[in-house]
Amino acid sequence: VEVDPFDIIVFGATGDLSQRKLIPALYHRDQAGQIPADARVIGTSRRPLSNEDFVADARKSVLAHVDPGDIEEEALARFLSRLSYVAVDAAAERGWSDLVAHVGLDPERIRLFYLATSPDFFGPICTNLGKCGLAAGNGRVVIEKPIGKDLDSARRVNAAIGAVFPEDRVYRIDHYLGKETVQNLMALRFANALFEPLWNSAHIDHVQITVAETLGVESRAGYYDTAGALRDMVQNHMLQLLCQVAMEPPRSLAADAVRDEKLKVLTSLKPIDESNADHLTVRGQYRAGASAGGAVGGYLEDLGSSTSNTETFVAIKAEIGNWRWAGVPFYLRTGKRLAARVSEIVVAFKDIPHSMFDETAGRISPNRLVIRLQPDEGVRLWLMIKDPGPGGMRLQYIPLDMSFAKAFNVRNPDAYERLIMDVVRGNQSLFMRRDEVEAAWTWIDPILETWKAHKEAPKGYTSGTWGPTAAVALIERDGRTWHEDDE
Ligand code: BG6
Repeated sequence: VEVDPFDIIVFGATGDLSQRKLIPALYHRDQAGQIPADARVIGTSRRPLSNEDFVADARKSVLAHVDPGDIEEEALARFLSRLSYVAVDAAAERGWSDLVAHVGLDPERIRLFYLATSPDFFGPICTNLGKCGLAAGNGRVVIEKPIGKDLDSARRVNAAIGAVFPEDRVYRIDHYLGKETVQNLMALRFANALFEPLWNSAHIDHVQITVAETLGVESRAGYYDTAGALRDMVQNHMLQLLCQVAMEPPRSLAADAVRDEKLKVLTSLKPIDESNADHLTVRGQYRAGASAGGAVGGYLEDLGSSTSNTETFVAIKAEIGNWRWAGVPFYLRTGKRLAARVSEIVVAFKDIPHSMFDETAGRISPNRLVIRLQPDEGVRLWLMIKDPGPGGMRLQYIPLDMSFAKAFNVRNPDAYERLIMDVVRGNQSLFMRRDEVEAAWTWIDPILETWKAHKEAPKGYTSGTWGPTAAVALIERDGRTWHEDDE
């Protein structure tokens, strides 16, 4: 689809996010013919760097992060020819006039400022963009979490950005919303007549949302130790997934129609605080163990410290206090160094009201709809089916299985490809509005405060397992179990 000409100006262009995600994503879109002829990609950071060196780095990152089958020399050369570099000191004076001279102040042209920097710079960069005139006209700003570390600090960040960019030109990325399967949830729920009538507490027993990683904190221990799993994953990705499952049907796909519905879910979450946090939350921290067949150290070793109370795992039993969801628990769990890399949403339906089958039929398990975000994106609907053959009425629990890879023989684009192009198109549907971010923090803050007040150390779990046993107990004491998709 044609888009208007644009310049994307990446702050922090030599950093990890830019090199690992943004540059490869832009290459893919360029290769697909989606980037207009005169669009430019302008890198900036504090470091003095020649255009040639910046281009050479970008080439390396494309080669490192794009599937070799998708590398076409001609497309790569065209993409690299769009790149240039300007050294800018984000928080000081240096470089800004060079940037203005390079980018230009055409009020019509789309200027997309991607702040791939530490969040400490979000405010100062926006202030400078405002001062030098670049923010005006068609300037748009893209930021990513962490947006603050609690409600107060998030408000400050949002206010600093909002002082320069009006809300309709602010794009807060949650890259989970760019994932194909997450968008598919909208299609599944609202383009099919089958599910929506059952999508409520009368028919759904509970929902599970798991985002499990096998990696540890890797090179990000410095940031991670100040955040922890609740801030890093739950405040944003997990709550966004919960919203996609729980929201009322928006009247259209218009950005505010969708975001209004998500906001209602966030503000309907029942508070978890001093009175119930011990019962409804579990914190864990990985210890030494095994991952991907090799021995790995614990979190403290990765951190290079002998103490830290930061959680690398969290499980929560959340509830939404509204008509549709009253009494339906949403069990959330996420962690690093778990047994497998799996992200999935499990919608567990209720038992049949009465069984006409005798015991030879076997156990009748309630239906489950499993939406697998990664890996092997797809949807499975677990059903009871009669065992084939003359052996009588024996039942089996079998999935109706749709693997996206098998159904569509195409490359699954990375979330950033979709999201960057949405910014160019001016479509904010998949981006978080200011009040959404703040509502999420409003729910998270009391959990953080309770944990802090109780000073309880996170429960240790061996790397390569499914987290602390308390997380199993969290769901099992309600007579339920965490889903395993090979049941
Ligand atoms: C990021 C978190 O937002 O998401 C990381 O900061 C986490 O800690 C990552 O590893 C997971 O994203 P994905 O796309 O690999 O599931």
